[in-house]
Amino acid sequence: MNSRGTTSVTAAPLLDLHPAPADMRQLVIDGLSRNPKQLPAWFLYDAEGSRLFDLICQQPEYTLTATETALLEREAPAIAAALGPGTLVEFGAGSARKVAPLLQTLAQPAYVALDISAEHLEAACARLQGQFPAVPILGVCCDYSQLEALPEHPLLSGTAHLGFFPGSSLGNFEPAAARNLLAQFRRLLGPGGKLLIGIDQPKAVERLEAAYDDVAGVSAAFALNLLRRLNRDLAGNFDLEAFTYRASWKPEHSHIEMALVSQRPQQVELAGRVWAFEAGEALITETSAKYSPEAFLDLAGSAGWQGAERWSDPAGDLSLHLLVQAD
Ligand code: AVJ
Repeated sequence: MNSRGTTSVTAAPLLDLHPAPADMRQLVIDGLSRNPKQLPAWFLYDAEGSRLFDLICQQPEYTLTATETALLEREAPAIAAALGPGTLVEFGAGSARKVAPLLQTLAQPAYVALDISAEHLEAACARLQGQFPAVPILGVCCDYSQLEALPEHPLLSGTAHLGFFPGSSLGNFEPAAARNLLAQFRRLLGPGGKLLIGIDQPKAVERLEAAYDDVAGVSAAFALNLLRRLNRDLAGNFDLEAFTYRASWKPEHSHIEMALVSQRPQQVELAGRVWAFEAGEALITETSAKYSPEAFLDLAGSAGWQGAERWSDPAGDLSLHLLVQAD
């Protein structure tokens, strides 16, 4: 306690590796030159997009977050036992809202949060440090997909680390990119490293499409916010009224495709160029792949991982897979 009667908490340290900013303009030009037009999913997450995504997670149709959180809480003892000793390393920690049950249950918890946004990291680590004053916590501002190795730090001095990648975030990557990312995690976590990853599974089409197009319209607002962001950041003149949001299940890809559909033929200025949209033409804002346990373990196997354990909710909506290195 200090003189004002409040408990002073040491702020969690932050290591800034100064990730190179992405060349948004070039990525937009590449993405809009594709047929169909498609932009990287992370473009959705400006400040307003991040706020809207948090709101999506609270919609009754979008059960993923609540289901995974409940599963982590329920199975924390079994998961902690299977993880064993090591530092937890969360990839793209964001607000780090999922790790608490593990920090509560691991025998000797230590936590490293990796995220591209220093602002998010600082807030998330400060909140967790307040909640777990005795747990060593480190934030690392970096682009984990570009990292050669985890930074040198006492919390990362051992060789085998425990990766944590919840939220079915892998779903946003096309299969080849998803495989590369899993292989990258394997390199970063070191020989003997493990990975705990949340994977959403295929389910009834009506449920999937409703989860990505909620009645309150938050999913639609989240996608349309991309146009607002592009207008602002790349001198665009998208008319938000001229596009309609659509979420459709594509069984041949086992993914939900989210798109903004042009309501009429139109030309849009963006990034110093003019882009033509036909009536009914889609701009794909993101895809969200769903993997059965077998399909996911196939993919993980092709990246050098092997399934060790799996926990699932009673309805079988999603799985937490614990992966170990195949050799
Ligand atoms: C953050 C990729 C897990 O695909 O479920 C949710 C993103 N987009 N609703 C998902 C998202 C619209 C989400 N992930």
